Amino acid sequence: MVRGIVIDAKEYLIKTSKELDGPIRQYIGDEEPANLIAASRQYPYAGGKRMRPAMVLAAAGAVGGDVSKAVPLAVAVEYIHNFTLIHDDFMDGDEKRRGMTTIHIAYDVPTAILAGDALFAKAFQLIAELDVPDRNMKEVLRYVSQAVWDLARGQQMDINNEGKIVSEEAYIETIRLKTSVLFAAAAAGGALVGGAGEKIVTALHEYAMALGLGFQIFDDYLGIAGDPSKTGKSVGNDIRKGKCTVMVTHAMRNIKDPKVLEEFKGILGNMKATEEQTARARSIMESAGSITYGRQLAQKKVDEAISKLDVLAPSEYKEFMIALARYAIDREV
Ligand code: IPE
Ligand code: IPE
Ligand code: MG
Ligand code: MG
Repeated sequence: MVRGIVIDAKEYLIKTSKELDGPIRQYIGDEEPANLIAASRQYPYAGGKRMRPAMVLAAAGAVGGDVSKAVPLAVAVEYIHNFTLIHDDFMDGDEKRRGMTTIHIAYDVPTAILAGDALFAKAFQLIAELDVPDRNMKEVLRYVSQAVWDLARGQQMDINNEGKIVSEEAYIETIRLKTSVLFAAAAAGGALVGGAGEKIVTALHEYAMALGLGFQIFDDYLGIAGDPSKTGKSVGNDIRKGKCTVMVTHAMRNIKDPKVLEEFKGILGNMKATEEQTARARSIMESAGSITYGRQLAQKKVDEAISKLDVLAPSEYKEFMIALARYAIDREV
């Protein structure tokens, strides 16, 4: 611990996000066709929490590197995240993201596909601009490209699993791929730009991998119990689509009354379920201890994440990384 430094992750994220506003806007110029450019800009400009780019910068700083050199990678990781969100919203049939109408609806499906592709390409243009030795550049590329590949696998598993009851292990593997790998590439990439050696890069990769699991388990909780006016996303759709989150698997194992179990199964995967029905499913899960179970599991992953940071020397950046892990499972947005 650095004595006297108390980091409020939310405040720190707001500050970092403001600093990133300029670079995030700067790299998408006014080109033709204007509708593609506008669609590509919508999510990056709208903001969001910007946890992943903040992690890139913090990792670079925490290993003693020059944080300003990591800015292009931070922007690249956020563009990749935004590309996956555009495609994810179409795949999930969601109408709201960051409080706005999703791209495939505000524009159309071809524009959403292309806006995603465009952001993905731009990310690699930015990585090519990094001022780092060739060996580190190669490693950064390896982490980032592997993350996008894995993310596609995870998203496909997520879709394949819809409406099915899968094991908790299978679900954890899915979220490791669809969510954790990008956080992990952010942390490892930031550390590499900061000039860290293999041992520290690996530790930060493991930190972010575990943080990502906790983050997604908590995100699933928000998807059931969150306030849409705060999350800016649709709530209840995971239940309608029958997403087999750790809370759902737990509920399937722990609902004792067969009648209640039947009722729960009737709501899960029912695309026409009303808000009252999805609220009922949530209350059944609460009674079965499934919500508490999910939150405890998320806490375990975050504790594991924080323990990986022992390799770092004390710094404000390290403290932020600890605070960020806690914030991943203690947020309203
Ligand atoms: C949403 O990520 C997608 C998931 C992996 C759950 P965030 O919750 O980080 O979204 P923004 O960037 O803050 O909008
Ligand atoms: C999003 O997962 C993960 C990626 C974009 C890769 P979800 O579909 O669970 O997240 P939200 O709830 O739409 O943000
Ligand atoms: Mg989604
Ligand atoms: Mg999804």
